[in-house]
Amino acid sequence: MNNHIGIVGIGVMGSNIALNFSDNDANVSVYNKSHNKINQLISEDSSNNISGFTDLEEFVKSIPKPRKILILVPSGEATKSVVENLFNFIEEKDTLIDGGNAYYLDSIDLGKRCNEQGIEFIGMGISGGETGARTGPALMLGYEKEIPEDLMSLIRKVAAKADGIECVGLYKGFGTGHFIKMLHNGIEYAEMQILAEAYNILRNAGFNNIAASEFFNNLKKEQQSSYLIEITSKILKTQKDGEYLIDKIKPNANHKGTGKLTIETSLNYGFPLPSIFEAFNARVESNYQKIWPIATKNIKIKIDPNELKEAIYFSRLSTLTQGILFVEYFSKQENLEIKIGDVMQNWLEGCIIRSDLLKEIKSFLEDSPLNKSIVELKQIQNNLDSRLKNTKNLLSSCIENNIPTPVMYSSLNWYITSSSEFNPSSLIQAQRDYFGAHRVQLHESNEFLHLNWD
Ligand code: 6PG
Repeated sequence: MNNHIGIVGIGVMGSNIALNFSDNDANVSVYNKSHNKINQLISEDSSNNISGFTDLEEFVKSIPKPRKILILVPSGEATKSVVENLFNFIEEKDTLIDGGNAYYLDSIDLGKRCNEQGIEFIGMGISGGETGARTGPALMLGYEKEIPEDLMSLIRKVAAKADGIECVGLYKGFGTGHFIKMLHNGIEYAEMQILAEAYNILRNAGFNNIAASEFFNNLKKEQQSSYLIEITSKILKTQKDGEYLIDKIKPNANHKGTGKLTIETSLNYGFPLPSIFEAFNARVESNYQKIWPIATKNIKIKIDPNELKEAIYFSRLSTLTQGILFVEYFSKQENLEIKIGDVMQNWLEGCIIRSDLLKEIKSFLEDSPLNKSIVELKQIQNNLDSRLKNTKNLLSSCIENNIPTPVMYSSLNWYITSSSEFNPSSLIQAQRDYFGAHRVQLHESNEFLHLNWD
């Protein structure tokens, strides 16, 4: 069994996953241009299984064939140039694994490029940040041919586990692992924004940071928590020199692009992801605040904490359902036969969106016959419907008192829109046909025709 892996790039993710492999008895060769970075990593390697190289050819030669090399450099051009350099030294049947936050279409191209050189390729999404890489990330692999067992054994060892089962997803298609990771990040954006909206509501209801922290912490006791809810509770109560850190941070949100790619991809497929769209837009808007001379004053409101709790759950379930429906749609469009239960298992532990809710959804899927869409699951319908009233009550109070809730509201609006009997878009079609002769379909036929409006 060849339990040797090469890693190119020892930044935050690369160095932590190298230590994870080493702790799991793999032999690890790492490549980096900087001697200092290599020496720093080796000094942290208590399992003594890491060797470092500043020369790429020596690095490649240190790995027994057929080689497995994990690339963890910034996605895009940096990854492409590493791959082209490696082509000078690697040989047929070696496997390159792109572990960056690559755009899934780039992974498809890179996979084809590798196969032209007789090289195997895997596009692997890695979720869980620094801690995840070190102690157990969720791993989302997109591949074409069978993954060698020795590599799978290494992958399983370092991955997060949920009740002893690895949080590893194996998906047909070079880009599918990165597609699932990209969607994970889109959902992450929405979950983060929902919590930011809840934080704003609590502040306007007179909750100080400690009380707000406690509100989020209490969700854990009701099995409605998540990694993001837990860190939010910790963040809100963290003080340094007697000051709350949260109060010192500029409210201008940044992003590295994965949420934007999720939206772009959904628009390319013509598939609605309103909650993720509003979450991304909220980040952009946070950099354009106060464009009006008179800021609308948030007004102190009274809230029923239970209504807020239910609105958070409703919005998270609405967002996850939208995301899962997009995976179902993508899988059908690309003939990939992705099993939603596999995606839920993939995200149960290790990843940033791990949560009690994902565990719930996975259990609903296990109780349901195969190939049922998520929206056909009675539990999902009931869990949304039963929280509708309290969600509406809470959001009505927010609207009344100038408290913006873009993702919570779009999550509600998506549910109402996708369960409405009447849809006014017939007027859109009529207007387009009136001024542009873009033609309409009448109810009883699929034929497009231009109507006479005079
Ligand atoms: C993960 C995270 C990670 C993400 C960073 C930054 O799954 O570990 O999603 O991959 O890239 O958290 O994301 P943004 O800069 O886009 O917020």
